[in-house]
Amino acid sequence: MNYAIIGFGNLGQALAKAFARSGIEVCVATTRDPESFAREAAAIGPGVIPATLAQALQADCVFLAVRFESHPDVAKALPSWQGKTVIDVTNAYGVPPEALGGQPSSKVVAQAFTGARLVKGFNHLAAGVLGQDPAIQGGRRVVFLASDDEQGLADVAVLAQNLGFSPIKLGGLSEGGLLVQARGNSWGQLIFKDLVKFD
Ligand SMILES: NC(=O)c1ccc[n+]([C@@H]2O[C@H](COP(=O)([O-])OP(=O)(O)OC[C@H]3O[C@@H](n4cnc5c(N)ncnc54)[C@H](OP(=O)(O)O)[C@@H]3O)[C@@H](O)[C@H]2O)c1
Repeated sequence: MNYAIIGFGNLGQALAKAFARSGIEVCVATTRDPESFAREAAAIGPGVIPATLAQALQADCVFLAVRFESHPDVAKALPSWQGKTVIDVTNAYGVPPEALGGQPSSKVVAQAFTGARLVKGFNHLAAGVLGQDPAIQGGRRVVFLASDDEQGLADVAVLAQNLGFSPIKLGGLSEGGLLVQARGNSWGQLIFKDLVKFD
């Protein structure tokens, strides 16, 4: 399994820190030439590899760390998403529900990435918190995951553990997933809840 983060802004860099801390290689890409963000990537760690969008989209598992409005551009950059896992970290805060046909934002993203295993997650905390070491006083910072794809949910839960987090599965995108999705100008009930799990 190999990994990429599309979008190397606040949240993309927070995720890259988790990969670097865990010693797992990850490609990072934006719309720009990789040279333009190579210094920031190197500052996080040698396993954070700047890439073009086309190179990064070769990964099996792709974090979608762009603004919600940009997700169709990323979806269109690949002719087929079959066999890939996409982790949707976008928050559609401020997007009118009617613009989404009343659906949860992750359902809209899932439709754009036809064929991919779509998992919503890693999106409920501010980047400054998500980027910190998730090992806290013997416990692990929680990330919430939701998906309509059982295999995708299981695979991303393992990845979350390998990145040092404690995953909690919320169920389907339209059920538990709604707890971690913005709707118009309101936030799901679990957004910003910084929890630590002790086994
Ligand atoms: N910031 C937070 O605390 C936080 C917390 C939870 C969730 N989120 C969600 O995470 C997502 C990213 O937020 P952010 O704060 O990291 O935003 P950001 O700082 O503005 O970063 C967005 C990144 O996406 C890249 N990008 C834009 N369009 C792209 C495209 N078509 N293909 C590839 N890369 C593209 C941008 O690079 P270029 O434009 O230079 O190409 C930039 O690196 C948003 O959906 C946000 O709601 C953010």
